[in-house]
Amino acid sequence: MLRVSRVAAPPLLAVSGVGSGAARTYAQLTRSSSGEKHTRWVPKTETTIAEVFENLTAEGPPLPPRFADLKREMCVDKDAMLHAWRGVLKELEGATEEIALRGNEMVMQVPYEDIQRGLSEEQLRTLKKTGVIIVKSGVPKEEALGWLQSIKDYVAANPGKVKGAPRDKIVFYELYNSKAQIAARTHPALITTQKYLLSLWHTSLPDTPVSVRTPLSYFDRLRIRGPGPSGVTLAPHIDGGGIERWEDPAYRSVWKRILEGGDAWRQYDPFDISPRLDANEEMYKSPNPGCSILRPWQGWTAMSHTGPGEGTLRVLPMLPLATAYVILRPFFSLRPELAGGFNDAADIPLDADAWVLDLDSSAFPGSTPGKTQAITPVTHPHLRIDKTIVSLPRVEPGDQVYWHTDVIHAVETEHNGTEDSSVLYIPAVPLTERNAAYVRDQRDNFLRGLPSPDFPGGEGESQFVGRAGVGDITSADGRSLLGFEPFEYSSYVNEGERKVVASANEILGF
Ligand SMILES: [Fe+2]
Repeated sequence: MLRVSRVAAPPLLAVSGVGSGAARTYAQLTRSSSGEKHTRWVPKTETTIAEVFENLTAEGPPLPPRFADLKREMCVDKDAMLHAWRGVLKELEGATEEIALRGNEMVMQVPYEDIQRGLSEEQLRTLKKTGVIIVKSGVPKEEALGWLQSIKDYVAANPGKVKGAPRDKIVFYELYNSKAQIAARTHPALITTQKYLLSLWHTSLPDTPVSVRTPLSYFDRLRIRGPGPSGVTLAPHIDGGGIERWEDPAYRSVWKRILEGGDAWRQYDPFDISPRLDANEEMYKSPNPGCSILRPWQGWTAMSHTGPGEGTLRVLPMLPLATAYVILRPFFSLRPELAGGFNDAADIPLDADAWVLDLDSSAFPGSTPGKTQAITPVTHPHLRIDKTIVSLPRVEPGDQVYWHTDVIHAVETEHNGTEDSSVLYIPAVPLTERNAAYVRDQRDNFLRGLPSPDFPGGEGESQFVGRAGVGDITSADGRSLLGFEPFEYSSYVNEGERKVVASANEILGF
């Protein structure tokens, strides 16, 4: 019986770096380190990214019966739930067919000028439907190529010290604090783009303590991938935990309209940030913990040309509809007489009549405690991922890619091109109290050259030659993004934003 198959994929990793830095700023920050209102992140043990990837496809044991209880608790109206499921399946027929036909044309590409001007209504509709965007040409090509060279020089200057995965031929570098990374994170085109994309989110509850117009920096790793198979596969998955989507009451509230049943799922808004602030995306101890803060847009910035077949990102360009399906999926199973015995996932019946509401099974397909949510042709057959997960169109050095936190994504196994495929992982992260507390700890680690709090510990780049310092942050916006300058009060738009700006400045010691 193919119904419950689990293939986990890894959370994205990050870490931070070092600093030499302005003495005044360092002293100020040292003084501010006491009396903070948010608990500090506990340093992680010194594992490596290699160990993380080795753990990707581990399949967990069947979930205990309490997960069937959880389903019964969530399903308050069986008829309404069935109506929602049938409506979603019907909608998926056309949506998956559209992607199968159009391929990666579905991935919206816009010039940076469109971001500066603000996207058109039509562009916004597309983005909110697909959840993925490529912003082209904001960073000059030569500048992005310069970042790549600078990183290669940094690696060469520190022989024998650089870690990554796979160990024998590194693709994912455990570097977080190179000068190039700091330059990219604080580049005006990235800051402007992130401000804009974050501003597409909104609050639905009064006084939600968040500023979606204020980006913060989250130190993540980088990829320099040469031609050939990588030895590392990122199978289709969704970041932000797995079973927590249903098990954690706060996280579950994000999907309230979907779980209501009936046609309410059509009103589900993926850009409402209010219910996400308290979501617990990591209820279980994980060997490869994910991003511990609120990260509405995951993203990377290219340092090379990369096209389909060259080891690039693959996405399912479908946002609210795919989410509705993933959330409803655990409540349904194939009719017992149809289940099992399939040699190929493509043989699994997709017709709505073949599926029934099943509140007796404890299965949550693709959800394994301690893992990210996996999506396979078996666990989620109606998404037809063999045809609908598309490789990004060709990007140029300096292009930025962002995908909504709920978008299903993967990385190509093969790189059949001739050049390195290189990106810097740089997401868009808004100002919240927790995010500010993370940046406080990340800032402290950066000054000491240690990995950022979410990432494997150890001495990181503390003994590296040529790592970045505070002096490498060359703009006020950049200093604010990294927690080295207070956030401005002057432009807040509501009480929630005013409160979070005040709290963040206090947390950061200003
Ligand atoms: Fe991911």
